[in-house]
Amino acid sequence: MTYDLVVVANRLPVDRVVDEDGAVSWRRSPGGLVTAIEPIMQEYDGAWVGWDGGPDGPDEPLDQNGMLLVPVPLSAAEIEEFYEGFSNGTLWPLYHDVVAKPSFHREWWDAYVTVNRRFAERAAALAAENALVWVHDYQLQLVPAMLREARPDLRIGFFLHIPFPPTELFVQLPWRRQILEGLLGADLVGFQRPGGAQNFVRLVRQRVGHKTHRDLVYLADGRTVEADAFPISIDFAGLAEMAQTDAVVARAREIREQLGNPRHLLLGVDRLDYTKGIYTRLRAFGELLADGRVDLEDAVFLQVATPSRERVDEYRRLRDEIDMLVGRINGDYGRLGHPAISYLHNSFPREEMAAMFRAADIMVVTPLRDGMNLVAKEYVACRVDNDGALVLSEFAGAADELKQAFLINPYDINGMKTALLEAMDGQPRDRSRRMRAMRKTVKEHDVAAWAAEFMGRLREVRPDHHKRLREVPTDDNQ
Ligand code: ADP
Ligand code: F6P
Repeated sequence: MTYDLVVVANRLPVDRVVDEDGAVSWRRSPGGLVTAIEPIMQEYDGAWVGWDGGPDGPDEPLDQNGMLLVPVPLSAAEIEEFYEGFSNGTLWPLYHDVVAKPSFHREWWDAYVTVNRRFAERAAALAAENALVWVHDYQLQLVPAMLREARPDLRIGFFLHIPFPPTELFVQLPWRRQILEGLLGADLVGFQRPGGAQNFVRLVRQRVGHKTHRDLVYLADGRTVEADAFPISIDFAGLAEMAQTDAVVARAREIREQLGNPRHLLLGVDRLDYTKGIYTRLRAFGELLADGRVDLEDAVFLQVATPSRERVDEYRRLRDEIDMLVGRINGDYGRLGHPAISYLHNSFPREEMAAMFRAADIMVVTPLRDGMNLVAKEYVACRVDNDGALVLSEFAGAADELKQAFLINPYDINGMKTALLEAMDGQPRDRSRRMRAMRKTVKEHDVAAWAAEFMGRLREVRPDHHKRLREVPTDDNQ
């Protein structure tokens, strides 16, 4: 059986969990990619190729919620070298402004090539003649070229969910040329922000020597590759509807009660990742308590952190640091039965997340660098009464669209403290004006619009791309 649409992503939407008795169950896998792609795949009929989150899983396809999931098994060594190593120890910090130091290891690179080839082979075997194959994210940047070599008939799209780094950082990568050539196997390469597309085109011109004009790359074989920004989004209507159900409204009330019905409930929701700025955000809140500018009777912080990449050193260290900071702030400023910060290191169902978003007065999103940050958009979608305030880092992709948020520089703790106070003390009319505008933006540009735009452009690219091939202009090629 072959498919007209094949999505290829490192993860399947569910992780395979084997308990101590050997019983198998499936659990939603973490992260924004799954949040965005799942509603799309439920709408379009296609296959989803990905890893099941554990070592040596089975490779038989399975049907889940109307989606065909096709697992790509990884061995324990490949998880260590390809996933924890090259993907999350090299590329992740390099692409996020080197907020942690990237490690470069040749064995990790070898595993990255091997695993990318396995994904490409699986996708090649599933795609129907002239099918559309949509490859996702930094773990699979070699797949487009490998796939094109095996299946030149395919229309291949690639979307990078995380930031594409400035050229000065990208060129640190010993395998920079291979990565660029891997991406050039696609017909359309999508980024979260226009700057990412521009960095990519500049690198391709300077380092691989291809001719370029604006967002087009002209390859020697006559093919063109288009690079552009496609800011990702969420299922706005679905989430807004969920946020209005009686169950979610009641649960939101219950959460507030359990937290002592504070005047201001501040909320942070993230994967436990060093790019998310959790430490500085909690420190800013702790300092506000210390300065006496915020009273424990008035304000409580709920921080929810999904366990993530727990075998990678940086993530272990981060967990310890956050544990310690939360303990210190609660020890210094909390009271019996009334901690200043409620910290939950766990993953929750979508309904529970919606209830938290409805319960919170202030959403605090402070990444040091983030491709988009869907949590910011989810909060906005859940504020069906147009109340609540969003404090948002200007270094998240979402800041391009959510301009009415209280924007902050996450490296400036004093600035962050001021913004938190402004958000807490803001006039209801002003907060409502801001929220209304942000809701309109996210509603108009939801995940369905994002996918339709990307796939629409990809469909246009071929088979007529030879017709689009104009004489190569010279102005961009100095
Ligand atoms: P990333 O892709 O880096 O994890 P995003 O903010 O873009 O960041 O997406 C995170 C997604 O994971 C959102 O859909 C968010 O609701 C979800 N999420 C985050 N924390 C939790 C949690 N503790 N339990 C359940 N879902 C969570
Ligand atoms: O977008 C970043 C990303 O790596 C996605 O690919 C994924 O959805 C999310 O973060 C979670 O990361 P991981 O798959 O490593 O748990």
